[in-house]
Amino acid sequence: MLDLKDITVSFPVRAPLFSGRRRDRLHVVDGVSFSLGAGETLALVGESGSGKTTIARAILGLTPIDDGGLWIAGRDARDLDPASRKAQFVFQDPQASLDPRIRVWEAAVEPVALAGPRTRRELRARAAALFAQVGLDADCLDRFPHELSGGQRQRIGIARALSVSPRILIADEAVAALDASTRLQVLDLLSELQANIGVAILFITHDFSVISRLAHRVAVMRFGRLVEIGRTADVLVNPLHPYTKALIRAMPGRGGGREENGLAGGRHRSGRRGSLPAWPPLRPVGPGHAVAVQEPTVGN
Ligand SMILES: Nc1ncnc2c1ncn2[C@@H]1O[C@H](COP(=O)(O)OP(=O)(O)OP(=O)(O)O)[C@@H](O)[C@H]1O
Ligand SMILES: [Mg+2]
Repeated sequence: MLDLKDITVSFPVRAPLFSGRRRDRLHVVDGVSFSLGAGETLALVGESGSGKTTIARAILGLTPIDDGGLWIAGRDARDLDPASRKAQFVFQDPQASLDPRIRVWEAAVEPVALAGPRTRRELRARAAALFAQVGLDADCLDRFPHELSGGQRQRIGIARALSVSPRILIADEAVAALDASTRLQVLDLLSELQANIGVAILFITHDFSVISRLAHRVAVMRFGRLVEIGRTADVLVNPLHPYTKALIRAMPGRGGGREENGLAGGRHRSGRRGSLPAWPPLRPVGPGHAVAVQEPTVGN
């Protein structure tokens, strides 16, 4: 469904004063490869600034790729405009992304209305079907965003993404703002929808504790690169990269704060660095499991 091969993305930044250059490029994604099948969920985890949203935007066609290949359902994404990519974003904060003056049923079908002429009646019927699909009561159709709970608004965000029948859903921190039990309900809704319609989900999060709930595989990013990728159970039980180990130790219930886990600091500050630190390439260590650590030197 989705294939990324050695994707590289950089942004122009102002060069340091007196460096003699006017422009530098900040490399934020460097040589990232992964694939995502229909009906599969891949969690993309990693610290703030590691390039997760940039990858999402590149997949959606909102940020240009410098180098590498991107294929959606077997077609080269360079030949596809954002609408024909059939990839939809589920926003992090539906409160901020929903217009407070527009009734939620209209917000849910706005992408359909933009895609081509439809009668109001057709749109309303589509909204009613979407509401049922995401577990929202028909009573909610005519409400305004502030008349819904956070969890209900997140369901509107999902309905909106589903309204144009995407092949790929990209959920960027989609449940971060919800309380624990609402978060679980929304995660379960995503799993259920996936089982019904076979959509591929790229689930972006900082939080390792949500992934075991719905991700089949996990990809861990640091400084614009993948440091580990594998099946969720393999990565959780047998993490091999020190950064993955630190993230797992920091999961709630596993004890330890960020400092003790070595997660504080070391951020990829924009503008500070034109290129990324040297890093060993990903190498396979088991079925579907690959990690970027130096190969152990074997004595003889
Ligand atoms: N349009 C842009 N111009 C310049 N730099 C950018 C642009 N967009 C993103 N960046 C930089 O790229 C880096 C990666 O950003 P990105 O949003 O992908 O991180 P992220 O992993 O999604 O972080 P978070 O978890 O905080 O959402 C950051 O250093 C950011 O400042
Ligand atoms: Mg982000």
